[in-house]
Amino acid sequence: MKRIGVLTSGGDAPGMNAAIRSVVRCAVHRGLEIKGIMRGYEGLINDEIIDMDARSVSNILGRGGTILKTARSEEFMHKSGREKAFKTAKKNKLDGIIIIGGNGSFQGAHIFWNEFKVPNVGIPGTIDNDICGSDYTIGAHTAVNTALDAIDKIRDTVTSMERIYVVEVMGREDPFIAIRVGLAGGAEDVLFPYNDYSLDDMCGDIIAGRKKGKVSWIIVVSEGVAKADDVADIIKENTKFSVRPIVLGHIQRGGSPEAFDRVLASRLGCAAVEALREGHTDSMVGIVSDDLKITPYKEATGKDSKKSLLDKKLYGLIKTLAT
Ligand code: F6P
Repeated sequence: MKRIGVLTSGGDAPGMNAAIRSVVRCAVHRGLEIKGIMRGYEGLINDEIIDMDARSVSNILGRGGTILKTARSEEFMHKSGREKAFKTAKKNKLDGIIIIGGNGSFQGAHIFWNEFKVPNVGIPGTIDNDICGSDYTIGAHTAVNTALDAIDKIRDTVTSMERIYVVEVMGREDPFIAIRVGLAGGAEDVLFPYNDYSLDDMCGDIIAGRKKGKVSWIIVVSEGVAKADDVADIIKENTKFSVRPIVLGHIQRGGSPEAFDRVLASRLGCAAVEALREGHTDSMVGIVSDDLKITPYKEATGKDSKKSLLDKKLYGLIKTLAT
């Protein structure tokens, strides 16, 4: 193995730059040539390849976003697009590719390997923490803290105005952000996928709570289960209290990565280079119980039932502490 490429794909996540830095510097350390592929699979399709060396990743460890840019490539979903990507990989003599991204990016990488046999290893980079084979994905912790900062501020106005706020957070179908931010931010309730909930019961609780002197509520809603606007309308209709919906949106993807994500990204970047050198492909590197682990993409992109068990336990804690 002489030359490898690195790309970031899908939604950006804080810590992607730290992972790029680690990949580049570990590759250089191992005497490999390293190329950057711009705009994820789009750059692989359109031959947007740049030279990289240890200096090209100076001072990016603490920067949000990704210096390689990223995209959700529609063209890569078609075999014709993947064929172009294969031609670029051949033309640039890439012996392997490291893909920093999430679920969709790994599904694409799996198909790409099956069709064209370009060795590739993934690094889980997404705020959603929805990948099996790694306890945490790069960016998830920072996203929770960004959302928490917002919730803490919302709490000030919730308390002052004695209102109900419904706060929608990202995470697709995974409740990682919703549950953690709910617990850390002292939310009264969290609506999230894989959990039965009844808005009627919630409204009943709010009315009963008001009678007992409770005046303010923060309800966190995971984007995978409902829209803040809809939930707010229902609560308003049923309780007649003042309710405001807030969608935190893409601010959750921005900002400087926390130490946790920088450490994770630094470990996984090097692990991916080593995995490629050792002949691994069609797999992702992750950290499970603090140890490095290599998991086939097929498994990594499946649903992790253990995670949702923990989420349910944490939800129980939220409800206990909200009384
Ligand atoms: O996968 C990361 C993520 O931020 C999700 O939490 C969210 O559902 C989605 O991306 C938003 O995608 P886009 O940036 O394409 O609007």
